[in-house]
Amino acid sequence: MFLAVYLVINTDGSYGCSAGSSARCCLSKPPTQSWLMGHLGEMRSTEEGLQVVDELVRNYKHSCSWFLGPFYSLVRFFHPDYVKPLLLAPASITVKDELFYGFLKPWLGQSILLSNGEDWSRRRRLLTPAFHFDILKNYVKIFNSSTNIMHAKWHRLLANGENRLEMFSHISMMTLDSLLKCTFSHNSNCQESSCEYITAILELSDLLIDRRGRILHHWDWLYWRTAEGQRFRKACNVVHRFTSGVVQERRNQLAHQGVPESHTEKTEEKKKVVDFIDLLLLSKDEEGHVLSDEEIKAEADTFMFGGHDTTASGITWVLYNLSCHQDYQERCRAEVNDLLQDKQTEDIEWDDLNNLHFTTMCIKESLRLHSPVSAVTRRYTEDMTVPGDRVVPKGSICLLSIYGVHHNPEIWPDPDEYNPMRFDPENSKGRSSHAFIPFSSGPRNCIGQKFAMSELRVVVALTLRRFRVTPGGTKVRRLPQLVLRAEGGLWLHLESLDTPQE
Ligand code: HEM
Repeated sequence: MFLAVYLVINTDGSYGCSAGSSARCCLSKPPTQSWLMGHLGEMRSTEEGLQVVDELVRNYKHSCSWFLGPFYSLVRFFHPDYVKPLLLAPASITVKDELFYGFLKPWLGQSILLSNGEDWSRRRRLLTPAFHFDILKNYVKIFNSSTNIMHAKWHRLLANGENRLEMFSHISMMTLDSLLKCTFSHNSNCQESSCEYITAILELSDLLIDRRGRILHHWDWLYWRTAEGQRFRKACNVVHRFTSGVVQERRNQLAHQGVPESHTEKTEEKKKVVDFIDLLLLSKDEEGHVLSDEEIKAEADTFMFGGHDTTASGITWVLYNLSCHQDYQERCRAEVNDLLQDKQTEDIEWDDLNNLHFTTMCIKESLRLHSPVSAVTRRYTEDMTVPGDRVVPKGSICLLSIYGVHHNPEIWPDPDEYNPMRFDPENSKGRSSHAFIPFSSGPRNCIGQKFAMSELRVVVALTLRRFRVTPGGTKVRRLPQLVLRAEGGLWLHLESLDTPQE
């Protein structure tokens, strides 16, 4: 598991260039507290850990190098001009780093998220059509119905006098509910009662965080012998059994009944929602190659992993930020009410999404300030040049800090202030294309970003139409785990608004 790190370190603490390179290289190395452990003690998944990043960004402006104990070292980047060439590098020379992604393998297998090179390109080509807007359009109804279920529950809780709720748990059940319907057409009723599959996914996410934090558990041989490793294996079995069952069932259906109607029938009445499994079973590349059952399972598991916590984090932090800024919240609510006032339906429809201008600005500013994913890591099979002719030697682990870019005061004045007006088109002119990268960028960007933005807009719009949110009364401390959460949960007060209900 331990990686060889091919960095040449100069006596002044800066990185040297790889052999044969004529370019200069001088990435700063902040002082360490321990010659043996390097900066390991400073890499914390806590509020303080994020403050350390703020300080690095203030002091080093664009990049610096870190040493994580005697085995690992990494180069951190937190300026758009520096992350841009790295994120835009061809996928053929980009490798997902094992240190950060390897623990996911037993769960996700060789999926799009973890694969590299030609294998990744083929998967990406086959999967991209599944996220075309013609397909996503159909999922908007699902987003509405899952949100309605959550709101009905909130109304019941409010009626019983419970008006202070931990948002993350409610919202992640709702996003899981939506994803299960979009991926498998499976109605788990998970928002109302417990479901073995969902429990297993939540357990796997918790165990991943736990493993990342215990250096001895990084060693596979030991991990699979621990109680945690065994729980991980058991939860993986539950998830894999479920996914295999659905894929097998659909494969049989396809063999007996043929292609689902929506692929052949063009009329609106005949269309039915085609889920991701249907799409993956039918996808073919230019040479007519299809995905095997094993590959379809890996991709479906990846959508469930990549799509539930991230969107839940995104939605929760938007509601939190709007709870702290009642003026912006009112403006969003007015926009949603205007949009729906002459309509027959209480649903937010696909065509409405582009008319939620201010709400979208509020969502984007929240994704900047509280990005669900705080960093991505990469290695490159060639030396990489960043501004100032600095060279990142091939094989180095690069940590591209989304959090750092989004909090860089050179790019975002008063970076800790929540100000949706930053995303007013007028104010966005001249800003770097890589100043705002919640979904990463380049060939390995988030394939689900349109799905996510549609879901965020539907859930936020419907929630603000029906509820006023105010802060929950406890100090919020950020908790950067697999996605950004809050220590002890994120609590908000809810007040029901007197608007027509679903
Ligand atoms: C607010 C919500 C979301 C955020 C912030 C987000 C963020 C990201 C980021 C930063 C990456 C790059 C990861 C890396 O380079 O290691 C990524 C990749 C990915 N995301 Fe998302 N994501 C979101 C929602 C979704 C959804 C809803 C899905 C699927 C239904 C999804 C599926 C994926 C997949 C499959 C990849 C890997 C793409 C590839 O390597 O080609 N994500 N996401």
